[in-house]
Amino acid sequence: MRILVLTGAGISAESGLSTFRAADGLWERHRVEDVATPEAFARDPALVHRFYNARREKAGSAQPNAAHRALAELAHAHDLTLVTQNVDDLHERGGSGDVIHMHGALSGALCAACGQRWPAPAVMLPSDPCPACGAAATRPDIVWFGEIPYHMERIWAALEQAELFAAIGTSGVVYPAAGFAQHAARLGAECVEMNLDPAVNARDFRRSIPGPASQTVPAWVASLKG
Ligand code: OAD
Repeated sequence: MRILVLTGAGISAESGLSTFRAADGLWERHRVEDVATPEAFARDPALVHRFYNARREKAGSAQPNAAHRALAELAHAHDLTLVTQNVDDLHERGGSGDVIHMHGALSGALCAACGQRWPAPAVMLPSDPCPACGAAATRPDIVWFGEIPYHMERIWAALEQAELFAAIGTSGVVYPAAGFAQHAARLGAECVEMNLDPAVNARDFRRSIPGPASQTVPAWVASLKG
């Protein structure tokens, strides 16, 4: 079966990485939406680097959980396209080979001046020079609010082919990902949501499996294998 799975922060919550909209959604008294923007980077690059350096460190010491591992198994049994909004690498470390990071990744550095990409150091500083052009315009290779997510052509193409669409641990607030379920459903795919709390776009899904991802995802994967 052709399956497209979209994951969000909720799948990494039980690995100890906080979601965006849990609790007060604040970091050092800043709203995340006020840090993850090109405007914030232009205003205060040191602050934005501090935010992502902290997240890179936290993600590096987190371990994949049973939900990440179950999705790696699913790829052995079905034609799976795995799309994540997460910038951590827990899917990869959980055994998934081809992960589409539509919001970029903490492991990448990007030159805002010339577009060069290279592996991110553990700690990124505003003064870091680009290895290609030398500009001190190093930023995390992450898609910020107001920027266009990566790999959209590949994702829309896979959505058109999908017979089953599953959204796991995502609140359905941020577009374009929040629109995938409606699009897939219109094209005839069965849509299933696995979340702790119902997503904002819950009515776009035919089925909802409530609960923590470390329990719901392995059970769902087992049901598809059987
Ligand atoms: P959110 O923080 O908005 O939503 C997390 C979702 O995970 C919620 O629906 C929770 O109910 C659910 N959840 C929490 N713990 C869970 C668990 N243990 N098991 C299952 N579900 C759980 O995160 P996203 O939807 O991923 O973008 O956020 C989308 C985007 O907004 C992010 O990629 C990021 C953010 O701003 C950018 O930075 C561009």
